[in-house]
Amino acid sequence: DRSIKIAPSILAADFANFGAECEAIEAQGADWVHVDVMDGHFVPNITFGPAMCAAIRPHIKGVMDVHLMISPVDPYIDAFAKARADFITAHVEATPHIHRTLQAIRDAGVKAGVALNPGTPASAVAELLDMVDLICVMTVNPGFGGQKFIDMSAKIRELRAMIGDRPIHIEIDGGVDPKTAPLVALAGADVLVAGSAAFKGGSVSDPAPYGENIRAI
Ligand code: DX5
Ligand code: ZN
Repeated sequence: DRSIKIAPSILAADFANFGAECEAIEAQGADWVHVDVMDGHFVPNITFGPAMCAAIRPHIKGVMDVHLMISPVDPYIDAFAKARADFITAHVEATPHIHRTLQAIRDAGVKAGVALNPGTPASAVAELLDMVDLICVMTVNPGFGGQKFIDMSAKIRELRAMIGDRPIHIEIDGGVDPKTAPLVALAGADVLVAGSAAFKGGSVSDPAPYGENIRAI
């Protein structure tokens, strides 16, 4: 479906070549570039921070979609806004004050996203629908790429109904591949993050497989 956006996660790219990887994945058809920020505290893995986002920004023509898996969030929002993120997504589980966090993201001039772990119900965002531009439904427990897809179709349907005609993206993150993508699209998702399924088999010197992978999702 052409209205579905594919957002490859550079968590599955070559960490020594992020600039070139961003250019290659966009040239091969990526709609957005998804950037997974992990702190070794909210999730059991560490990736990179706002300085890295600022460094890759000139290598991304389209949307830079920053997924913060960090706690606390608020002290870092300005740094990611300065790095010119288009979306900053924070986890509802990462703070007792998600409303304040989303307000701060919008105040920084950035589109605001809220992410839900697999164990968190759709109702967790019921009071936030007028404050968000994106809801990220995790279909793995966050922390690592390449994990097994957890079916969240019922939650996606529930969110789509709650959203009504508000202009809010539903993004799916984790285990998206050519087999699982149709399920989440049917349930109402419109942005699909794909790490391993987007980057597998290719490299900056041989990027054609990226294009084949994206078209297969
Ligand atoms: C999980 C990250 C995802 C991850 C997806 O903690 O938020 O973005 O990179 O990777 P795949 O597509 O390999 O499951
Ligand atoms: Zn992510």
